[in-house]
Amino acid sequence: MLLKSALPLFLLSPLLSLSTATPTTYPASSYTTWSPDAAIEKSRLAKISVPLEDGSSIDISRLDLVGSPHERGFASGALLANDIIEFIDVKLNSYFSNELLNLDISSLPLKLQEVLEPIIEKGAEKAPEVFWTAMSFVWEKEKEYVPEAILEEMNGIGEGICAGLTSGDDCNPLEMSMKVKHVNMLPELIRMACTAFGAWGTATPDGNLIQLRALDFGGGPFANYTVLSVHRPEGGGQAFTSLSFPGFVGVVTGVSEKGIGVSEKVWMTYDKRSIQPGSYDGLADVLVIRNILENSSTRAEAEDYLMNVDRTWSIWLGIGDYESQKFDLVGYKQKSAIVYDDTTINTETGQDYIQDVCYVDKHPQPSHADDLPKLLQGYHGNVTFTAVQDIVQQHETGDLHWAAYDFAKKTMILAIGRIDEEGNYGEDGKVWQAHNRPGVVFDLEDLWNGV
Ligand SMILES: *[C@@H]1O[C@H](CO)[C@@H](O)[C@H](O)[C@H]1NC(C)=O
Ligand SMILES: *[C@@H]1O[C@H](CO)[C@@H](O)[C@H](O)[C@H]1NC(C)=O
Ligand SMILES: *[C@@H]1O[C@H](CO)[C@@H](O)[C@H](O)[C@H]1NC(C)=O
Repeated sequence: MLLKSALPLFLLSPLLSLSTATPTTYPASSYTTWSPDAAIEKSRLAKISVPLEDGSSIDISRLDLVGSPHERGFASGALLANDIIEFIDVKLNSYFSNELLNLDISSLPLKLQEVLEPIIEKGAEKAPEVFWTAMSFVWEKEKEYVPEAILEEMNGIGEGICAGLTSGDDCNPLEMSMKVKHVNMLPELIRMACTAFGAWGTATPDGNLIQLRALDFGGGPFANYTVLSVHRPEGGGQAFTSLSFPGFVGVVTGVSEKGIGVSEKVWMTYDKRSIQPGSYDGLADVLVIRNILENSSTRAEAEDYLMNVDRTWSIWLGIGDYESQKFDLVGYKQKSAIVYDDTTINTETGQDYIQDVCYVDKHPQPSHADDLPKLLQGYHGNVTFTAVQDIVQQHETGDLHWAAYDFAKKTMILAIGRIDEEGNYGEDGKVWQAHNRPGVVFDLEDLWNGV
């Protein structure tokens, strides 16, 4: 860093272009292995493993979940039982110990603050208890809003875990299901910064929509437990895929068969550096997103749903669809859900208008940076996956993962961060962030057909 700023620009550019060479891409289908043993009824588990030159590999568990909500839950619990327990009981707890100082309890309900304060005072070793107490509090507040099918799926996961554990003698399915429900409330406690944009019309070579969602989350064990779940409900209902973690039913990143892609980021305002007011009286954000992928077939339908649902915490939601090949950002908060397009989004972001591009950068809004609009303007007319790879790398967004969807080719590209044993993205905490890592490209038809 120091060296760079001390050098004149002309000396710097060859250096820069070397270090920012756009990462390679690999086709997922060539690196996907289905194991004959890893099947429960019609559901299956595959491992995607791409060996890389630096000695590391990209590893993703791919779940193909077929059947009723309970059957899909059971299969995902059983097929990933050991991963779920290792992730939830071991890795997350040590992550909680490291994160205790970053947990801002001031935005939590007073009643909960009173419960948490004495535990927090006992220090890092009680950190898991702090988080689990908070998650169970959120669950108790929000559970009445959770749709029946999601409850059935979560119960299925708990039962599946107990059935699938290799050392599961004293596994109680009811307790396990409760644990799954609680941990699914984690995203309601953690605020994720992110970047989202959609580019279409004059901004892309063929005029069709390209959508990005980059998740900036910070370090932790998450990257090593990346799960790509494909839900293929039987007897009606649309298929969708979610890039997530073992045991999680809510969606942070995903796209549906009907051609709806969703991106979200926490809605922080610049001036007060605070989030918009919200409460835990409603449906968790990640379940709202999930409902869109599962139940909306157009952008308009999704937006209509957002206006009517019981909302909790503020996020920016980016929504694109096949039908219109366009993308909106919805300012979603407890009080209202307002739809913005390329011509109106700048009233909230304060950034330049770019025709047929609707975007929100990784910073609190209105943003005081201008690198993302400059990059998008530079690629105007030429936004492709390759351009997206360059844009996320230069904007330094997407540490844990990022994904983009091509709504004409029906493909998805994603990249996952690499972490060391402490959960850091390499020595400087940056080199291995997802935006510096190779991409894996999926043919969405393969996902919808379970191949
Ligand atoms: C999708 O709609 C069905 C039917 O209305 C409902 O049962 C289900 O809970 C919805 N899915 C989600 C995730 O809300
Ligand atoms: C568009 O992007 C491609 C791939 O990144 C590049 O080869 C080409 O030169 C770009 N064209 C324009 C007009 O910028
Ligand atoms: C993540 O996986 C890598 C590669 O297997 C390993 O070296 C690292 O220690 C793991 N980190 C965590 C936090 O699990």
